[in-house]
Amino acid sequence: MQLGKGAIRAALAMAALAAGGFAQTTLKDAFKDAFRVGAAVNQAQFEGRDARGDAIVTAQFNTISPENVLKWESVHPRVDGYDFTAADRYVEFGERNHMFIIGHNLVWHNQTPRWVFQDEKGAPPGRGALLERMRDHIHTVVGRYKGRIGGWDVVNEALNEDGALRQSQWMKIIGEDYLAKAFEFAHEADPQAELYYNDYNLENEAKRKGAIALIRKLQGQGVPITAVGLQSHDKLDWPMVEQQDATIAAFAELGVKVNITELDIDVLPRATQQSGADVSLNVEARAKLNPYASGLPDAVQQALAKRYAELFAVFLKHRGTITRVTFWGVTDGDSWLNNWPVRGRTSYPILFDRNGKPKAAFDAVMGLMH
Ligand code: GLA
Repeated sequence: MQLGKGAIRAALAMAALAAGGFAQTTLKDAFKDAFRVGAAVNQAQFEGRDARGDAIVTAQFNTISPENVLKWESVHPRVDGYDFTAADRYVEFGERNHMFIIGHNLVWHNQTPRWVFQDEKGAPPGRGALLERMRDHIHTVVGRYKGRIGGWDVVNEALNEDGALRQSQWMKIIGEDYLAKAFEFAHEADPQAELYYNDYNLENEAKRKGAIALIRKLQGQGVPITAVGLQSHDKLDWPMVEQQDATIAAFAELGVKVNITELDIDVLPRATQQSGADVSLNVEARAKLNPYASGLPDAVQQALAKRYAELFAVFLKHRGTITRVTFWGVTDGDSWLNNWPVRGRTSYPILFDRNGKPKAAFDAVMGLMH
């Protein structure tokens, strides 16, 4: 006798249950009435070279961000040339899977080629020339994906830790209104797209105050800003629940939405030196900074689960303000934290382990919705 489709499905569900029950519900379904849940995807994932990663992405998430392929250095590496090969595949992947597709990012001080801030003689271009360059870039990139990319990180990381505007080349050459201009150009290129300001450490008071002042100013100038992105590269002990709560509430009061855009929770010891100093670390110091190279102890696994649950509880409390929670990576093995700020560590910041299996943290997050 042949099994019918229903019987096969039921048998598969039983097998999944026996294997831990994870196939029963997914993040995107569990949270569908609260906010979208997403992940930053790498090239192997959206080009179909990581079947295990793909299976997780398509099953669990309803929004994607590009880890690198839409950054300036990737799409616009030369003064006279754009290269959309990888970015096109990223967007096609999102469309094929009916996802809300994020563009990341348009204006940043990192991963932007040196030529952007130089004229033909190698000197800084004038304000007008740099504005024109920015306008051309934004119109070309946003225009290409008009109606397909739903939201853009227009400006990334414009603030210092003290809340003042960072003295980036954008700021030095154009002046403070480079932010308003970037949003203006993006809005011209796709009037329907959501536009975001994205940054880290906005949970800290001084930087948060700077961000609030910045958003107010932009709003006062009529700049169309949809949401603030909290990158959320978090630790087991930072930000405190109260800080997270107060930060989301403060932006909600301005009338903007909040996106959690690059969520991961680092369980590894803080590197004592700034990035770059790691090359000089001796073997012993390196071993201390990489304590879980052969596996994560259960106590830390449980601490991470508890931590994820407490942060998601805050996100849920603010479900009217939070429209999206995106993880920076699909599995632990994909995370940038394996190589930053110290190269070659074994990091555990995501809900899925190196084998693509959901961790205790996944169950803890899902448990909030049961
Ligand atoms: C920042 C950027 C991201 C990414 C991460 C680390 O948060 O916004 O694009 O580069 O750093 O990978």
